[in-house]
Amino acid sequence: MKTYLVGGAVRDKLLGYPFHERDWVVVGALPEDLLKQDFQQVGKDFPVFLHPSSKEEYALARTERKSGAGYHGFVCDFSPNITLEDDLSRRDLTINAMAEDDNGDIIDPYGGMNDLNNHILRHVSPAFSEDPLRILRVARFAARYAHLGFTVAKETKDLMCAMSDNGELSTIAAERIWVELYKALKEQSPAAFFTVLLDCRALHALFPLWPPALNTAVLDSVARAADLNMDADIRFAIACSALNVDHCKILCSELRASNSAAWLAERFSANIPLSSLSNNEEWLALLEAFDYARRPQHLEAFIAATTLLIPEEDRLGQLQLAAATLRDIKPAEFIAQGFNGPELGRALRAEKIRHLAELGCGV
Ligand code: CTP
Repeated sequence: MKTYLVGGAVRDKLLGYPFHERDWVVVGALPEDLLKQDFQQVGKDFPVFLHPSSKEEYALARTERKSGAGYHGFVCDFSPNITLEDDLSRRDLTINAMAEDDNGDIIDPYGGMNDLNNHILRHVSPAFSEDPLRILRVARFAARYAHLGFTVAKETKDLMCAMSDNGELSTIAAERIWVELYKALKEQSPAAFFTVLLDCRALHALFPLWPPALNTAVLDSVARAADLNMDADIRFAIACSALNVDHCKILCSELRASNSAAWLAERFSANIPLSSLSNNEEWLALLEAFDYARRPQHLEAFIAATTLLIPEEDRLGQLQLAAATLRDIKPAEFIAQGFNGPELGRALRAEKIRHLAELGCGV
């Protein structure tokens, strides 16, 4: 029995990139051999075990063959005569198909090191297409490593185009798409995720409403938001900002977007130019739509993102000041004066409108 470090940890170690997880492959063993050494079995469909002390994942070397549609249609072989090379051959990208033995030597049967040095994301074999989620993974790796100069190999792009055109993406569960998308949004170059998916028509196949709204200006703003370290919900909202509200709602529901991401995206897609707010009531409505009192961070996000999307918008400072001023209005002071019920609501509203007028918001 021999164990090897595999997958992302080998890749990121060689790249000098930080990694947080180590996965291991065990060759020449039966499940009983690991159970005898107090490993704990976690995989249902194939034998994956947790190390008794490190709790890292150890999988028996296996091959996988597609036998039907969707995620359960795999036949898996994990007999002790499966070699390390067999196991590495079922993996998605050459840079993910290297192993390190306990002497620190790299086993690299599919040219991963060469592709790593040349910054190429290339599939290992045609079996890549047996798992369409891999298209999203490639796009996510592009988002992670774009600043290092990584690009998708021509033959991999061609394969991804064919997979998109064949309708294979429709078998991926929406929840898995959201997980990949959200991870990609947190990467250093999230715009590259969208560019790769647009280039292979995957986004057209998955969410036909979205590609027309992902124009260069929007992608540049997503990139800028990442440069400014804005959080993933804001990056997502910016990516949705050129959709109309109805389309944005459809997209968020199809994507099973988290509530916080969908909430912000819908407000961004409402796309209210401040110059069109003609009176104080409309200013108050905008502030309330952003829940300015309870969620100040969302209004800040909107202001920061609008600065990127509409640089000529010159009333953002006024919006910020208006929100800060209205947050200082304390209901307790009105209650102390004897207001309550609907009267209290009316008095507070009148006070807010008076402040907005003083600030010269409504014209
Ligand atoms: N893998 C694959 N196809 C998938 C998922 C995973 O071939 N759809 C293989 C790859 O060899 C990958 C390894 O399983 O390197 C581990 O997968 P995972 O932990 O999901 O990804 P990492 O490559 O480790 O990347 P990350 O840094 O994002 O965890």
